[in-house]
Amino acid sequence: MTDSITITDNRTGQSVDIPVVNGGVDMNAIQKLMPGTWVLDPGFGGTASTESAITELDGAKGFLRYRGYPIEQLADQSTFLEVCYLLLVGELPTAEQLGNWTHEVTYHTFVHENMRKRFMEGFHHDAHPMGMLMSAIAALSTFYPEAKDIEDAENRHRQINRLISKGPTIAAMAYRASLGMPFNYPDNSLSYPENFLSMMWKVAEPQYRPNPILARALDVLLILHADHEQNCSTTTMRVVGSSHADPYSAAAAATGALYGPRHGGANEAVIHMLTEIGSYDNIEPFVESVKKGEGRLMGFGHRVYKAYDPRARIVKEHADEVFEVTGKNPLLDIALKLEEIALSDDYFKDRNLYPNVDFYTGLIYQAMGFPLDMFTVLFTIGRMPGWLAHWQELVVQDQRISRPRQVYTGEPERQYIPLADRG
Ligand code: CMC
Repeated sequence: MTDSITITDNRTGQSVDIPVVNGGVDMNAIQKLMPGTWVLDPGFGGTASTESAITELDGAKGFLRYRGYPIEQLADQSTFLEVCYLLLVGELPTAEQLGNWTHEVTYHTFVHENMRKRFMEGFHHDAHPMGMLMSAIAALSTFYPEAKDIEDAENRHRQINRLISKGPTIAAMAYRASLGMPFNYPDNSLSYPENFLSMMWKVAEPQYRPNPILARALDVLLILHADHEQNCSTTTMRVVGSSHADPYSAAAAATGALYGPRHGGANEAVIHMLTEIGSYDNIEPFVESVKKGEGRLMGFGHRVYKAYDPRARIVKEHADEVFEVTGKNPLLDIALKLEEIALSDDYFKDRNLYPNVDFYTGLIYQAMGFPLDMFTVLFTIGRMPGWLAHWQELVVQDQRISRPRQVYTGEPERQYIPLADRG
């Protein structure tokens, strides 16, 4: 048996052997041998859009590795900034490299005053922070026009650094603006998660000192969100990046993709769902309505994981530590019971639907005091290094511009009818 697939065009009798490489066939090879052949794959479920050396996940076995390192080890022993370095550079840093990287990120946290005074204050008082964040990330491209020079590695590094450094600053700004509270400037003596919490919650104290357990829990959640290979937002980053747009424009587009409730917005949707369920008695009727197709069980299911999402397991383990500090989230018991009922139900078993990362993260964020509309913002801060690692990889690979085909299902050619002649 050879490692190839034979395709026969029964219209012409032409047969070609296509080699199977890494478990898949190369569409470009098919097109070369059989010009004009294409595949219809809405949602890209069977399409590998790129080669990538960043993240490996196996949906059946339920593992996730960044640059080969298991997510469990990184969540247990690493920090978010170290994981950023790992994703971007490909190797764990030495102590000196980590020190330099941390210094670089820490000293790029400030944003131009116009961003705060004119840009952020221009939003309506009830603007969703994700909309504000997405717009602000796009606006950064106007502050750093040199970002357009994507071929220069040093220049790319500078923009990557800015996006990772300034994400929390803009996110906290969006939150404070929504409350009508003055903005807190970054405190560069604090760690990455501590600084974010300080910008979020500081009121009048000379220095805000977040609870170390909560700061560490946030850091772990950021690690868990840091990359997830070709998900919807990362694919968006790569698609926009393939046109050679600057990284701020591409990251703003990726933020838009993450905003949706089927992707990063699911953590917010889970809390709405649990609140709506409200009590144990309503769980079974809710599950029945989902099975009838009247809605989805938010925080359940995944395109790739057909086993328990390893990130969900880690989040669940950390939830108890957080609740010891904050007090238990009253929705936790409903979530646990809902999970138990769903996992023993044939509808969910037959479709391999398990809790994904978003099922429990919202409960932690809510217990920590984050308002619901900030949840996806937190996801964005976490996913930023993954987007940037893929963008950098794409530029270095010099990947072709993303330009899929379509199957046209509209009207055939017809003649224009002047307005007066239309019925
Ligand atoms: N609740 C109920 N049924 C579901 C769910 C769900 N959450 N997810 C999938 N199904 C059913 C779906 O109706 C379909 O059934 P049938 O075969 O009878 O038509 C089957 O399972 C396959 O679903 P699909 O829509 O083909 O799956 P997909 O790979 O296109 O969608 C998903 C993946 C994550 C969008 C989907 O599972 C979903 O909408 N989940 C809820 C939203 C959510 O939690 N999103 C967060 C994903 S993880 C974090 C992230 O990456 O952003």
